[in-house]
Amino acid sequence: MNVADLLDEAVKTLKASHAIDHWQNGRERIEAEDLLAHVVDGDDPEPDDDVGAKVARRFRVLVDRRATGEPIPFIKGYAEFRGIELIATPGVFVPRDSSEFLVEQAVRRLRRRASPVHVDLATGAGTIALAVAHEVSRAAVYGTDLSRDAVQLARRNAKRLGLSATFVSGDLFDPLPRPIAGAVDVVTIHPPYVAKHELAELPDEIREWEPVHTLTDQSDDGLELVRRTVEESPTWLSRTGWLLLETDPDRAREVKKLFVRGGFRDVQSTKGGELRVTRVVVGRRPA
Ligand SMILES: C[S@@+](CC[C@H](N)C(=O)[O-])C[C@H]1O[C@@H](n2cnc3c(N)ncnc32)[C@H](O)[C@@H]1O
Repeated sequence: MNVADLLDEAVKTLKASHAIDHWQNGRERIEAEDLLAHVVDGDDPEPDDDVGAKVARRFRVLVDRRATGEPIPFIKGYAEFRGIELIATPGVFVPRDSSEFLVEQAVRRLRRRASPVHVDLATGAGTIALAVAHEVSRAAVYGTDLSRDAVQLARRNAKRLGLSATFVSGDLFDPLPRPIAGAVDVVTIHPPYVAKHELAELPDEIREWEPVHTLTDQSDDGLELVRRTVEESPTWLSRTGWLLLETDPDRAREVKKLFVRGGFRDVQSTKGGELRVTRVVVGRRPA
């Protein structure tokens, strides 16, 4: 069998899967190519190259795993995110390409500062915090998460990447060192924002593979953690500091209203990422 035939077969298997969300045109082919590249470990096979029986067998096992909904980063053991590789393990939210836009917005604001301080709330695997630490090396970066497993993984990721960031476990700002209160230039958060009643509607690949506390704050509108972040951020932000929050298109308008009601200035909802699906709501600390 050649590469093209093997990929076609995999695309068919992935397209037939009910566990995968087929929201993006061509997603199955991108994933099949990603898995094949993983199996051949960096070789770049041509479509008419022959594939050995062993490679084909290993590849089909991975495709079958993906067809059950298992996220690709769990299959590969890592996720690529803005040029860094993050270990991905079940129990901690999988880094998403869509969050790269939040990093872009944070980096732009932090690079202008002489001694930048960044706090990433609900940090998961350390995704946003570590990408910022990688791109703004002089920044003091902190990440917090309620989940101890997440904090442990974030620390592991930092160590493996040789990046400097402090990860602490606890609720939102609670575990941060008090001396940075009033000195934070950028707070980022990609919170769990699915409303409680919407959980059942999520595709299997999310509902069955991501822990529920990473998806919802159990509120009726999914915005309880957003409300608390808006309320608590001003104490931690510097006078010219920004709050940046990643959400989905359905919630962006409501999030924007919460920022405005909380006294934030220059509030904007920005659309970005490669697929222009993600929304990042930004606002300057209330005066
Ligand atoms: C959608 S995930 C985002 C993870 C990571 N920021 C990313 O983008 O890959 C939400 C994260 O919020 C954490 N979380 C939930 N409630 C929290 C709280 N009250 N305080 C801190 N973290 C919380 C979860 O454990 C989970 O890691």
